[in-house]
Amino acid sequence: MKPNIVLYKSLPDDLRARLDEHCRVTEVNDLSPETLAAHASAFSEAEGILGSGGKVDADFLQHMPKLRVASTVSVGYDNFDVAALNDNGVLLMHTPTVLTETVADTMMALVLSSARRVVEMAERVKAGEWQKSIAPDWYGVDVHHKKLGILGMGRIGLALAQRAHLGFGMPILYNARKQHPEAEQRFDAQYCDLDTLLAESDFLCISLPLTAQTHHLIGREQLAKMKKSAVLINAGRGPVVDEQALIAALKDGTIHGAGLDVFEQEPLPVSSELLQLRNVVALPHIGSATHETRYGMAKDAVDNLIAALSGKVEKNCVNPR
Ligand code: GLV
Ligand code: GLV
Repeated sequence: MKPNIVLYKSLPDDLRARLDEHCRVTEVNDLSPETLAAHASAFSEAEGILGSGGKVDADFLQHMPKLRVASTVSVGYDNFDVAALNDNGVLLMHTPTVLTETVADTMMALVLSSARRVVEMAERVKAGEWQKSIAPDWYGVDVHHKKLGILGMGRIGLALAQRAHLGFGMPILYNARKQHPEAEQRFDAQYCDLDTLLAESDFLCISLPLTAQTHHLIGREQLAKMKKSAVLINAGRGPVVDEQALIAALKDGTIHGAGLDVFEQEPLPVSSELLQLRNVVALPHIGSATHETRYGMAKDAVDNLIAALSGKVEKNCVNPR
């Protein structure tokens, strides 16, 4: 008999058909308490879930006594309580490889748009403000050959180092839990402690997952150690940076600017002070949001779920037994 699953994200037709071949699917909008209440029997029968977003903790798992596999359409899994999944014997599958290059592209786009004020300048042209040749108060700063600091040298950090070093001639510094020989050999990346990374980077690029250890890792004290001319780029998870401290640093000139794809609260409320600041480029968490990559992530998530439900876990598992 096919296993029951709950799908909480709409899939392209061909992927949905593949899922239907292997599973009995109940599709719902999300994993909110309202949805859980409205579809209580589907959740209580489900052996698998597939989607993105929502919060899966011990409370949630009480409603899913048969759950064996959770497959998230993301690389990040900070919305899952992995200890609670382990206690309940649930495997967590994610999509760590397919989005690497696309997220690195997004980070480079944030570096370039922050330094060269791309978004602001394009808006000025559209607003009819380009009347004569531009004055120095419209100039940006160079990207090429500046120091790029990477906090968190995982797959995405490595792909960013490749772009920045080979494409833009940027020296690479990095800090991570452990040294990364490949980054050092291929892109001449230099490992340093966090204080050195903060003090020396012209662009501080954060590519860390959110964990208890990385929550508010960058706060007032750390921002104060950065160069006044430095730009902070965050495309990992918002809460790695203390957003109130960042706003203060951007307002009082502690640092020069920020390019942000992730925020403490998403969607970013329109009332956020970040949106008042000229030196901020804010994107709506589009790190992996291309047609090709989002399709690839959905496909990997479907394959991951089917493989794990049939007991064949070879890759993409957060908590293999
Ligand atoms: C996106 O933020 C992801 O975790 O895939
Ligand atoms: C993250 O990639 C780390 O190693 O710190």
